[in-house]
Amino acid sequence: LTAAKRPSVVWLHNAECTGCSEAILRTVKPFIDELILDTISLDYHETIMAAAGEAAEEALHKAVAAPDGFFLVVEGGIPMIENGAWGKVSGKTMLETTKELAPKAKGVICMGTCSCFGGVQKAKPNPSQAVSVKEATGVTTINIAGCPPNPINFVGAVVHVLTKGIPELDKDGRPNMFFGETVHDNCPRLKHFDASEFAPSFDSEEAKKGYCLYELGCKGPVTYNNCPKVLFNQTNWPVQAGHPCIGCSEPDFWDSMSPFYQQ
Ligand code: SF4
Ligand code: SF4
Ligand code: F3S
Repeated sequence: LTAAKRPSVVWLHNAECTGCSEAILRTVKPFIDELILDTISLDYHETIMAAAGEAAEEALHKAVAAPDGFFLVVEGGIPMIENGAWGKVSGKTMLETTKELAPKAKGVICMGTCSCFGGVQKAKPNPSQAVSVKEATGVTTINIAGCPPNPINFVGAVVHVLTKGIPELDKDGRPNMFFGETVHDNCPRLKHFDASEFAPSFDSEEAKKGYCLYELGCKGPVTYNNCPKVLFNQTNWPVQAGHPCIGCSEPDFWDSMSPFYQQ
């Protein structure tokens, strides 16, 4: 993984909030500097690259034309309305650029629910007619779902792709090794669910004691993700912090999982 010639990675930003890039900046195994300086060559990333304007575009063209090829990471959904005209970078629509690069890439990783499934842009009434990368391009993607995803899952997928190829995926394109179990399966509050001990309100004594948040809206039983096992920032995750899981790694969760709170 630390070979002299590091694999080239191009990271596109489409319609999104940049929360997924913020998440990857907080990776600790390895730290972000080790990831982008020793493991991969992050040749284009609009948020963190030093270059701007024409120099940035030049870096993109060079990476895409390199004889060893490139891997594509996509953050954000793709607006389809008016042939993609609602989302442009450097004069080209997000639709045009993603459609051009995805079929050429050695592999396409979607970072976050926006690129995996359309995300918040696709929530009703979906004014920009946003869709996922797979829907927009027809290319099969490795979906690191979550809003945002855990950076550990992204790094794990990258390492797997580089060393062993594409990991085994579920029906929604998510690697089974990270998304094979529900949040509920590994939740520390599960013993209370099994004993029918539910917190009646967020500020109740039962909530403080760690009772199950199901009756307050928790979607952990129908959400596939490894949050309780890997934590965010090695510290915490929503349910441990007293917040119900809102199903952020599931397709169309903004519509299908709402209302997020029941009280
Ligand atoms: Fe932001 Fe969530 Fe979309 Fe990531 S998946 S870009 S965190 S809205
Ligand atoms: Fe399941 Fe949510 Fe209760 Fe945890 S808090 S046991 S994930 S329903
Ligand atoms: Fe998302 Fe639920 Fe984990 S909201 S971060 S999948 S606990």
